[in-house]
Amino acid sequence: MTAVTARAHTNIALVKYWGKADPNLMLPQTSSLSLTLDQFYTDTTVEFDSRLTRDMVQINDQLLATPASQKVVDFLNIVREQSGQSAFAHVTSVNHVPTAAGLASSASAFAALAGAASRAAGLELTPRALSRLARRGSGSATRSIYGGFVEWQAGSDDRTSLAIPLQETVDWPIAVVALVLDPHHKRISSRQGMQSSVTTSPYYPAWKSVVAQDLATIKPAILHQDFSTMGEVLESNAMRMHALTLSAQPPYSYFNGDTLRAMDTVRVLRQAGQECYYTLDAGPNLKVFCQTPDLPAITQKFAEQFGTEHVIVAHPGPGLRFLS
Ligand code: DP6
Repeated sequence: MTAVTARAHTNIALVKYWGKADPNLMLPQTSSLSLTLDQFYTDTTVEFDSRLTRDMVQINDQLLATPASQKVVDFLNIVREQSGQSAFAHVTSVNHVPTAAGLASSASAFAALAGAASRAAGLELTPRALSRLARRGSGSATRSIYGGFVEWQAGSDDRTSLAIPLQETVDWPIAVVALVLDPHHKRISSRQGMQSSVTTSPYYPAWKSVVAQDLATIKPAILHQDFSTMGEVLESNAMRMHALTLSAQPPYSYFNGDTLRAMDTVRVLRQAGQECYYTLDAGPNLKVFCQTPDLPAITQKFAEQFGTEHVIVAHPGPGLRFLS
């Protein structure tokens, strides 16, 4: 049996995925668009072993007990079904995050697992097929198969819901400043949160039109390196996604006090001529897009506000690759 190791980077969505049309096949309600980041990634090794009596899943040196490893086991079952491999597997996964920052993500985790598990099981999948497979583990993992700017096309079934690269090599001096405002695990997972938005927010139908419009605007802006248009779209898209949490029943929010303070700082920086725009996912940590000439002034401002150790600079990152 061969052990295969794959590395995948996490991604930050500029146009968010927030809702499933089919929770079983992980088909989304809308398409979405992200940038893969260089700083945060997962290395995962998979080896199928006929002597095992169950899947052994180890993450960051910790062996997971059964309820905690269930998502990984479910995913391995899909790989076993596709490949005909019947053995259980050793899975060893390490998340590389600059600090214990709460920035580790299911996107890099399931993209790396899709690569390592499929190849260890004897499958040779194309990037398109890998992105469909990664989707079954976590929606955002669909996009982490590719580097740079990536669109996840919603599609209508398992075959057509996959990522396509919009621009794999980003020849544009842009950066993403990640602010670690709360390193703890999220109280409401994205999975629970998006489901509650779909079923209870009266604004959900409007969100679907927002996404269609935002994708139509942001794709040419990226291709023409129009930073202002890209920034305006990514910031308003994030706020409209978070409006779905406030308008759900019961309402909830991922913001904390520091999130709101950091949003204010972005506006202050912009007024002072340092163009930057924020986005955030299912947690309080802001990610601020800027162009590299403005990076020193922007990082200095946030370091003064929150401390240097809470400011992490990332750049566009690569797609999935095999390390062995
Ligand atoms: C806010 O991919 O974590 O980050 O598909 O249930 O695993 P599951 O959810 P997940 O949700 C990501 C939501 C988001 C937006 C995005 O990445 O597009």
